[in-house]
This record gives sequence, C-alpha cells and structure tokens, in this order.
Amino acid sequence: METITDTLLERINHYVEERFAPLDPVLARNLAAAESAGLPQINVSAAQGKLLYLLTKLAGAKRVLEIGTLGGFSTTWLARALPARGRVVTLDVNPAHASVAKRSLEGAASGVSIDIRVGDAAESLEHMITQREDPFDVVFIDADKVRYVVYLDLALKLSHPGTLILADNVIRHGLVMDGATTDENARAAQAYNNTIASHPQLESIVLPILRDTVDGLAISIVRQGS
Ligand code: DHB
Ligand code: MG
Repeated sequence: METITDTLLERINHYVEERFAPLDPVLARNLAAAESAGLPQINVSAAQGKLLYLLTKLAGAKRVLEIGTLGGFSTTWLARALPARGRVVTLDVNPAHASVAKRSLEGAASGVSIDIRVGDAAESLEHMITQREDPFDVVFIDADKVRYVVYLDLALKLSHPGTLILADNVIRHGLVMDGATTDENARAAQAYNNTIASHPQLESIVLPILRDTVDGLAISIVRQGS
C-alpha cells in the first residue's frame, strides 16, 4: 500500500475532480481571471467547491453568507446551489478582489442575486446585525484566519436554528495537531476548532480536505432551540 504522500493526495484529488467536479467554462474563466489579475491562488479546489455546493443544497438554503470572496470561485459554487430568487452576500476587505469577483460573477448563477460588500468583514457583519438582516441558511468562513472566532460569533447572530456554518483551512497540513506551533494561522485554526467542538449552540465535525496538501473544512449546524 502506498503511504500518504503529497503525490498520492494530488492523484486522489485529481481522480475525484475529474469525475465529480469538472470545470465548466464559467468556472474555468473565473480561475483564469483571478490568475491573470494576480490574485493569490488560494481559492477552494473544485472538489471542495462541489462539496460546498452539495452541503448548501442539502441545507435547502435560500440565503448564503460568505466571508472572504477572493475571485468568487467558491461564491459561484455556493450561488449555484440556490433556487431562483436565492441570495448570496459575500464580504471581502480587498477592492481588487471584489472587482475581479464582480466581473466573474455576472451571470454565474442564473436567478440568484450576488451582493459583494467591500470592507472589514467584522464591520460589515456588525452592520448587518444592527440592520436586522434576515438570517442566513449557510455561512462560509474563508477569510483572515486569525479572526475566525470573531466571525463565528458574529455569524451566529445572523443565523437561525439549523443554519450550517462552514469554515475553510482548519487543518493546515496537520499543523493544528502541534500544540507548540507558532504558525499564527494554525493557532487560529486550533482556536476555531476548539471553540466549535465545545460550543453550546453548535454540533460540529472537521473533515480533512485533500489538495496538494491536507487542509480541513469545519462543518457546524446551529442547534434547535438556540
Ligand atoms: C490561505 C488562505 C486560504 O483561504 C486557503 O484556502 C489556503 C491558504 C493562506 O492565506 O495561506
Ligand atoms: Mg480557504
């Protein structure tokens, strides 16, 4: 049996993506636009995009909140899981990301409105809370790792029982298992994982996500009665 090497991870991911998450022209153009604009290539993989899509469909979601737009690749997968008149609100602090995403997201999911809000995500979330924005059915956290717990606390105020709260990058190639790590993103992931593991309002799990390396997706559901 092969040991788990980076090569094996890539081959498994390729096998799955080829069968279950082939890129259509809109998704391929999305990645090309992000690359040519010089955006960091830290978008979710196609396989993870398909997982986000399926989870959003399973949740029967009509309203999705995304924290961290980047070039809008995951936004496209999330939006496509929504029925007509569905809505995505996606937040990014970087106007360059937002302008690339805006172009790529035009017509990416028919009948779904996609609202890109530029600014500090915590401030945008606070604003939505004070404006009494309707709760979201799915929240996807994929922005600056050090503020994941802050985003979670704010997202909970924009949730209802049954809301699915997802968070990317919570394994960091296994660095989260190292209690002495000084990597600030890994430490933030540890804090996030420990928070959701014992949170009274949440039931949660973390799934490893295979790419060229191993990362993780946290999946939480807001408990009934909370
Ligand atoms: C980084 C951020 C991400 O959201 C990701 O999926 C991978 C890497 C990063 O900042 O390094
Ligand atoms: Mg990510």
